[in-house]
Amino acid sequence: MNAVAPLFSAPTQSFEIRPFNAALGAEIVGIDLARPLNDADFARVHRAHLDHGVLVFRDQQLTPEQHIAFSRRFGELQIHVLRQFLLAGHPEIFIISNVIENGQPVGLGDAGKFWHSDLSYKDIPSLGSMLYAQELPAEGGDTLFASQQAAYDTLPAEVKKLLEGKRAAHSYVARYNDEVFAGVQRPTLTAEQLAQVKPAIHPVVRTHPETGRKGLFVNENFTTHILDLPADESRDLLKELYTHSARPEFIYRHQWQANDLVFWDNRALIHLATGCPSHLRRRMHRTTIQGDVPF
Ligand code: SIN
Repeated sequence: MNAVAPLFSAPTQSFEIRPFNAALGAEIVGIDLARPLNDADFARVHRAHLDHGVLVFRDQQLTPEQHIAFSRRFGELQIHVLRQFLLAGHPEIFIISNVIENGQPVGLGDAGKFWHSDLSYKDIPSLGSMLYAQELPAEGGDTLFASQQAAYDTLPAEVKKLLEGKRAAHSYVARYNDEVFAGVQRPTLTAEQLAQVKPAIHPVVRTHPETGRKGLFVNENFTTHILDLPADESRDLLKELYTHSARPEFIYRHQWQANDLVFWDNRALIHLATGCPSHLRRRMHRTTIQGDVPF
């Protein structure tokens, strides 16, 4: 059966793509994500995401439904295992926050405390994430993004050779309780939650399914070891890769402004939340789009 084309498409929006002076990232200026994007506008945003890895949309006024609708244009959404931190009525939105209300944390207070790619611990990790600022601290709270394609490109030839065909294990619980942000206690995972986060195995170097570029795909938060290597060799190699992967020249630092929405590519980069003083409130809403099995 032929699909019926919509009679009217959304009006074209006039927006610019302004790349940052950094290894990755661009600002999309003049777009209103609360309005549906027509196919041509969507294709430009999609292309920019592939080209720049991180897209910054300033000053967006989005309801949770609009945040979810824009995210869904890129694929199915993944529901975070910490169900206690999903937005009521909108389980597609995961709350990242250090705010305590009535003695209970409203979100995960230390999400992103180590470099990582979202959901790399799943068999089908994430294509990308959209983080939308709800409440920002007066100081701190920046997010760093590091291009893992630039990291791979600049590896010495012998290291590239060594990594060929290597696979690594990723686990959600690897560093679950390691404290970095002062005083943040994570909830104990139930047996049901633990069953949902069984370790996954992925190539150490992945090929981006849409651009064909190669990038490193290990991270200090979730990767536990490289398969088929003695434990000490795996540990030493991962340590070197982590140091290399976060070199300053691969990084874009995002300093949040009110109502920013940032959309990044988990297949091409890793990111890190730098944290803020614990007495200052920070609340963010994240959607996570499902990607492909890495190859
Ligand atoms: C994340 O790792 O998704 C959270 C990043 C942040 O809160 O800055």
